Amino acid sequence: MSGERDLTRIAWDDFHALDVVDKAAYLEENGREFHVLLAQQFNRRRLEELGSLATQIRRISKQEAGMTFLRGLMPNQRAMLYFSQPSSRTFLSFCAACQILGVNVGEVRDTATSSEFKGESQEDSVRTFSSYFDLIIMRSQIGGLAERMAWLLSNTDRPVPIVNAGSGKDQHPTQALLDIYTLQRSFERQGGIDGKTVVFVGDLARGRTVRSLAWLLTTYEQVRMLFVAPRELQIGEDILALLDAAGVNVELSDDLERAIPQADAVYMTRIQDEWDKAGESSRIDTRRFCFRREYLALLRPHGVIMHPFPRRQEIDVAVDEDPRAVYWRQMRNGMWIRTALIASIFGKEAAIRGYEA
Ligand code: NCD
Repeated sequence: MSGERDLTRIAWDDFHALDVVDKAAYLEENGREFHVLLAQQFNRRRLEELGSLATQIRRISKQEAGMTFLRGLMPNQRAMLYFSQPSSRTFLSFCAACQILGVNVGEVRDTATSSEFKGESQEDSVRTFSSYFDLIIMRSQIGGLAERMAWLLSNTDRPVPIVNAGSGKDQHPTQALLDIYTLQRSFERQGGIDGKTVVFVGDLARGRTVRSLAWLLTTYEQVRMLFVAPRELQIGEDILALLDAAGVNVELSDDLERAIPQADAVYMTRIQDEWDKAGESSRIDTRRFCFRREYLALLRPHGVIMHPFPRRQEIDVAVDEDPRAVYWRQMRNGMWIRTALIASIFGKEAAIRGYEA
């Protein structure tokens, strides 16, 4: 780490007490992200750079020689996937991203099979794993755990970077990166993301992907956001305050049918009932927050339908056939943007950009 704002120069309690924007400044090294924990770490220039790097990697990988080049980029690096909360697509897309770059992976998915079962703290477990790996990619149901680990590892003699692959109800920065990458690609011929209207639908109170993506959208000009949810599951006041401070035009509603015609992108999410205390979301009528086949007629010709997945009933499967349903492409974009991110963490951005096919 280098510079004034450095995790070795701040006590945990002081770091923990900072607001997200101030925290973000502590997570970089030489102007680039070291730990990747928060959406607030990325500005527009960086989002464009990562998107174009992902596209370049994607192009290089289309040829065998390119695949071999990518695989040879960092054969000595090892990444640890520490996923103590269920995951399949995020886990596998990180795994695939590492494989594309020749990074070896190890994994812990079930803490019942690790020494945490014997009473070891998660801090000690992660520090132990960090001895064997050069990067830790972690998902946890505990909000802020990745931050704690990042601070802890930065204060050891082997500070390896941590990538947050989803923490609690608050942040999912790499999902937001893939969502932005999907929007960049979708609006390539529509003047980009500036000036677009994004409609977020579903469980906005507990969906971490929405919280991270809404922030990244503030780095673009004049993006309008509509949050469509049952009253009980509306977006949190904390994120609304951040959006307000960023001067974003937001609107809250519970009427999906009226919102769709205004949308350039509709971002659907599922009900996150794993966070229920006593089955409270089963008492909410969520049918009005489902994208029905008939709604396709209301969506603009260039509009896109996104979803971080997994989905339940919130998108009718008949919608899948429409070219504006981009969620399958969105998923594959996740692999490419994660490849770009890992390459950049290991300082391989210039080597990739200099590759001549
Ligand atoms: C999301 C998550 O884990 O927050 N899934 C994902 O990573 N694509 C969304 C969800 O679980 O609903």
